[in-house]
Amino acid sequence: MIDPRVLPFAYLNGDIIPIEQAKIPALDRGFLFGDAIYEVVPVYAGVLFRAQSHVERLMRGLEKIQIRDERTAHDWHEVFEQIAKTNGDIDQYIYLQVTRGVSHYRNHATPTDIKPLVFAMSQRLMPRSNHIAKHGIEAVLLQDTRWARCDIKTTSLLANVLLRQSALDQECSEALLHRDGWVTEGAASTVLLVTNDTLIVPPNNHEVLPGTTSRLIVELADAIGLPYETRKFSVEEMLSAEEVLLAAATKEVLPVCTIDDKSVGNGKPGPWWKKLDAAYQAYKAKVIAS
Ligand SMILES: Cc1ncc(COP(=O)(O)O)c(C=O)c1O
Repeated sequence: MIDPRVLPFAYLNGDIIPIEQAKIPALDRGFLFGDAIYEVVPVYAGVLFRAQSHVERLMRGLEKIQIRDERTAHDWHEVFEQIAKTNGDIDQYIYLQVTRGVSHYRNHATPTDIKPLVFAMSQRLMPRSNHIAKHGIEAVLLQDTRWARCDIKTTSLLANVLLRQSALDQECSEALLHRDGWVTEGAASTVLLVTNDTLIVPPNNHEVLPGTTSRLIVELADAIGLPYETRKFSVEEMLSAEEVLLAAATKEVLPVCTIDDKSVGNGKPGPWWKKLDAAYQAYKAKVIAS
């Protein structure tokens, strides 16, 4: 039986079908090699949230790995709209992946004569628990064991899966990753700091995914008078920051209150997180009403 959080309709190569009928050929390169790009778009009360940022990143990702698909930004937007509408005016998030396609001869070399395969589904977006606003989340610090092109949102996520599971095994909800003492990002989130009443945002480079949510947070910081700097930061700086924040499209902005059992700041969600979260919720309400 399908989990009730999975919504009934999926999209496969142009058709809307019941999710249980969505079948992918075994010779698909996404299945065999993880040769694919994905995107996750939140939808509130049936309205796509920041879809343009997601479509832009999806198209940049396809270009980076040279998957050639003829769909335009408008076409991708329509695919997201179609799946959201079919599943109803509820809070959900759409997962969409584009694989290089099916090739009958397994070979690492990328064939040019195959058509990309597009699959999308939708799952219920659950409201944030009250516990998080009161106590924040607990995180662990781990060595970043992923590959050298984390700017590409590929479905090859084994390292992220193992890192997140390692955090869960330690009863924490996220793994904060570092390379040689420099913080990169979370297993599935962007890490930001507040230090000296300034928001520190990681720069876009090959070590991190360019986050759509951190981009929005920078806009909101501007609006609420929180200055920001874009630069790398060390583990040491993170551990002594006033606030540590996580950003991800399906999680919005979250306060990290302990790292490896040590308190961040005074161990409670901080004042800048509260202001940013309030601005985020107000922005969301405007998008829903528009
Ligand atoms: C590795 C990684 N970094 C950052 C993010 C945040 O990206 P976005 O804000 O676009 O969800 C995600 C989201 O899933 C992620 O998986």
